[in-house]
Amino acid sequence: MGFEKMTEVQSRTIPPLMAGRDVLGAAKTGSGKTLAFLIPAIEMLTSLKFKPRNGTGCLVITPTRELALQIYGVAHELLEHHSQTLGIVIGGANRRNEADKLSRGVNLLIATPGRLLDHLQNTPGFVFKNLKALVLDEADRILEMGFEDEMRQIIKIIPSQDRQTMLFSATQTTKVEDLARISLRPGPLYINVDYHKEASTVEGLEQGYVICEADKRFLLLFSFLKRFSKKKIIVFFSSCASVKYYAELLNYIDLPVLDLHGKQKQQKRTNTFFEFRNAEKGTLICTDVAARGLDIPAVDWIVQFDPPDDPRDYIHRVGRTARGSDGKGRSLMFLQTNEVGFLKYLKEARVPVVEFEFPAKKLVNVQSQLEKLIGKNYYLNGSAKDGYKSYLQAYASHSLRTVFDVHKLDLIKVAKSFGFSTPPKVDIQLGSARDKRSTQRRDYGPRSRGAKRRRDD
Ligand code: CDP
Ligand code: MG
Repeated sequence: MGFEKMTEVQSRTIPPLMAGRDVLGAAKTGSGKTLAFLIPAIEMLTSLKFKPRNGTGCLVITPTRELALQIYGVAHELLEHHSQTLGIVIGGANRRNEADKLSRGVNLLIATPGRLLDHLQNTPGFVFKNLKALVLDEADRILEMGFEDEMRQIIKIIPSQDRQTMLFSATQTTKVEDLARISLRPGPLYINVDYHKEASTVEGLEQGYVICEADKRFLLLFSFLKRFSKKKIIVFFSSCASVKYYAELLNYIDLPVLDLHGKQKQQKRTNTFFEFRNAEKGTLICTDVAARGLDIPAVDWIVQFDPPDDPRDYIHRVGRTARGSDGKGRSLMFLQTNEVGFLKYLKEARVPVVEFEFPAKKLVNVQSQLEKLIGKNYYLNGSAKDGYKSYLQAYASHSLRTVFDVHKLDLIKVAKSFGFSTPPKVDIQLGSARDKRSTQRRDYGPRSRGAKRRRDD
């Protein structure tokens, strides 16, 4: 691959992993964790001379399909001069083809939890009794609500004797420690590369926020995207419907953007992911489905149009830029005046952000044209309503409710940012939406529509 030096997390975790130890590794976004687990995994498969008939010797679990595809790509490159076989099982892909491939023997398997569990339970030809290593990438996310049950079942089904476990993430929760206790053999190594570092985000990242009232939010985004039209930008939203609406709107008014969220067909998600990866410039509008692990080259800006659910999500979102040893990047978070309390949480999480000014006279005022368009275009009007409704629902189920209090929103202003001159009537009960956190707000794929309803991710 042309790399001459290991990164810190690689030099500290690869030797003990090659010696067979269990490792819980923490290191910032973009620091090279993928190779830190893939190299020992592949060395192990090679030294044990795994053949297709031995089945799966190493299993890598990731929270999203795109991340699985990306790791598959890196593993493919690493395996070029090896005879061991590689496979991937992810929700939204053809189950039959996956089952056929598994039956032919996949030594290194990359998977998302739901589809993996499905194959563990229902694919007779899937040989996993020789499993020697389990990797959880983005371990803290995999152990969050929605994945936790599946993970416990997976851990129950796969062999635990003689199995090495590797957990990696840029952020940790107590849940990771819980799992570490269940699945790591005695004497696991806890390697935290950033332990002594001042910030939990990388050095080459310049992070700012801008205070912006609700009715000016879209105008600011529009002006920003116009001004940086030659750059590569990712914009995060809190719901699939908002992504869908703003992508349709921006494309309609000749500001081309790509969009990625969990309610799209997998083929479209995959195409969009690779198209944006390979693009030199352009804008991707997305939900948190793209927040974790994706290694997209040369992203200039991360914009958080809707606030993240917590500092951890913030860290992963901005981690899509300034990657590698001296990566550079910038990030911008939109905050309304009632939301500035979030800054305190960022500070506690050791995230250095400063206020950016966006001169009012540079705002392109397209509000009246926008309202006219949304007034007369039936299709956009429908999407705008869905977007507006989902924004409020996501807001009402935010995990930091003391900061993100839906009752403090000025709905007239919020509606304006969706192009309405007066707020549309939407049928949601903001009070009760409060209890539905995480099924409503977070989008990591179809599962967000209700953890139990579809198990294909
Ligand atoms: O998983 P994490 O966020 O730590 O980072 P990654 O997705 O593994 O990405 C690390 C980036 O640094 C990739 O683009 C690698 O090609 C590159 N890199 C590396 O992984 N190891 C090196 N020794 C040098 C560069
Ligand atoms: Mg990673």
